[in-house]
Amino acid sequence: MASSARSSETGEDSIIRLIDQAPQPVDMTRELLEGLRASQKSIAPKYFYDEQGSRLFERITRLPEYYLTRTEIGILRTTVQEIAELAGSGAQRHSGKPVLVECGSGSGEKARILIDGVSPQAYVAIDISKDFLVSSCEALSSDYPDLDVYAVCADYSQNWDLSEVLDTDARLLAFFPGSSLGNFEPDEAAIFLSQVGQAISGRGLLLIGIDPPKDASVLEAAYNDSAGVTARFNLNLLTRLNREFGANFDLSGYRHKAVYNQIEARIEMYLVSKRDQEVRIGGDRMFIAKDEAIHTENSYKYSYDRFVDMAQEVGFSCTRYWTDEAGLFSVFLLSA
Ligand code: AVI
Repeated sequence: MASSARSSETGEDSIIRLIDQAPQPVDMTRELLEGLRASQKSIAPKYFYDEQGSRLFERITRLPEYYLTRTEIGILRTTVQEIAELAGSGAQRHSGKPVLVECGSGSGEKARILIDGVSPQAYVAIDISKDFLVSSCEALSSDYPDLDVYAVCADYSQNWDLSEVLDTDARLLAFFPGSSLGNFEPDEAAIFLSQVGQAISGRGLLLIGIDPPKDASVLEAAYNDSAGVTARFNLNLLTRLNREFGANFDLSGYRHKAVYNQIEARIEMYLVSKRDQEVRIGGDRMFIAKDEAIHTENSYKYSYDRFVDMAQEVGFSCTRYWTDEAGLFSVFLLSA
């Protein structure tokens, strides 16, 4: 359902269109209970992103140990002209400036680099965190008053529908930064890529940020920062479950843990129970043993070969690839 949102803070110019495809709370409760009843307890990482979680994640992106964001931003700044040339060229039928579609838009900081360099005809931001999405789209709209801005509140790991927003003739530049693909399991990542491939097939490109495997000490520092922001981000999941899903987690009873699994090439994040404890979630009760770990996130790290193989298997070809001098992060431009 589409509606217009006007910011009282940013004034007249910041009008955006909000398309609300947020998941139903009842489905979320069922999914949470399923995860917490399994033998390896888990909470899906998308639950990180309530408003506070989105703010904490923004703080993570500015931490000295979290090299991903600043390195990707550096790559985008130095390559944006090339991206603009490639995104503006191609099939005659889909002419004109592309529509920029960003999955997991967050603060929109990286999109601004592309908006300045590519001058898209419209910007479509897809994010699960509605309030955060709306406020960052309003701020963006106020800075770019001539740009059409669409805020789509949706779980992009499930189904999303851009038919309300996209003109069938528009060229597309899909943008999936930050190595968020790494938060999917590899089979889900391939499905997601294939869906994006179908959406842009013959009419555009996908620009995607990928974090390659590297020394475990660098990776573990990035997910166990010394200021404890990642720990707060992880524990905020329990605050959210208490507030929105009728749970009674005692936050002091859990600690944050992040380890690099070399074999799977992924960071694994957990909340580890400090003692035997019982927790209520709505009408359900469950027991959590001392040292039992609730899995909260995987962050897969893809080598060039592994990522390109997966992308090719679902029909993409790699148009360009960029990395920084130290090879810490990579950005791929793919066509389908
Ligand atoms: C959003 N995503 C790419 C982040 C990552 O690095 O996997 C989420 C994150 N989790 C802890 N720190 C950052």
